Amino acid sequence: MSAAASPVAWAFEPLDVPAFVACEFRVKWAAGDWERGEAMALRRAVFCEEQGVFEGDDLDAIDPQAQTLVALSQMGGMPDQVVGTVRIHQAEPGLWWGSRLAVHAAFRHHGRIGATLIQLAVASAHARGCRVFLAHVQQQNVPLFERLHWQALKEETLHGRPHMLMQADLSHYPPCLDVYTGYVSRSGAGRRPA
Ligand SMILES: CC(C)(COP(=O)(O)OP(=O)(O)OC[C@H]1O[C@@H](n2cnc3c(N)ncnc32)[C@H](O)[C@@H]1OP(=O)(O)O)[C@@H](O)C(=O)NCCC(=O)NCCS
Repeated sequence: MSAAASPVAWAFEPLDVPAFVACEFRVKWAAGDWERGEAMALRRAVFCEEQGVFEGDDLDAIDPQAQTLVALSQMGGMPDQVVGTVRIHQAEPGLWWGSRLAVHAAFRHHGRIGATLIQLAVASAHARGCRVFLAHVQQQNVPLFERLHWQALKEETLHGRPHMLMQADLSHYPPCLDVYTGYVSRSGAGRRPA
């Protein structure tokens, strides 16, 4: 009997079922070694391997004083993967900075993950006495930040690349105190993004 005619072979024909992909993301301050370690791995993948901004790793003198935020994909309500991260730190009383914003390449333009990380970054600093929140934004992302109520202050070159110094309009970022609960963002997508 040919394979095509075999009832056993027929029974195991692969079905064209899309891979399940998380469509709910919790954005929160990182807690514990797993969340922090996965966030660092994502930063290396984006800033060292993908963009080639740094060689080896992207750690610097800010990391020991910074707070890491993560976006966690959720499966059945349980954390599955760190798909986004950003860090914040207070440089002087009232002056906060955000940096190392990164979303896993497969999850970009997917569930407003980057926008929600920015929202929590600024809102949680706002709740802790922030009066000015700044970031050096890569030039290609300036329109994203402008849509999120950031103002361009000054063009600059960092790591040999064009950046814009930008400031968040705090009136659009109500203080967030419950930073380990954070926010949930959702996408309507049912397929793994290309
Ligand atoms: C920049 C980055 C963090 C954005 O993350 P993301 O999860 O794809 O962004 P979001 O889906 O939250 O974007 C929110 C909205 O802005 C849009 N948007 C995203 N990036 C944009 C950009 N560079 N320019 C203009 N619009 C943008 C999205 O399409 C989305 O639009 P919608 O509200 O109509 O759906 C991500 O592309 C990334 O990690 N890039 C590589 C690393 C990097 O550049 N880091 C930033 C250094 S400043």
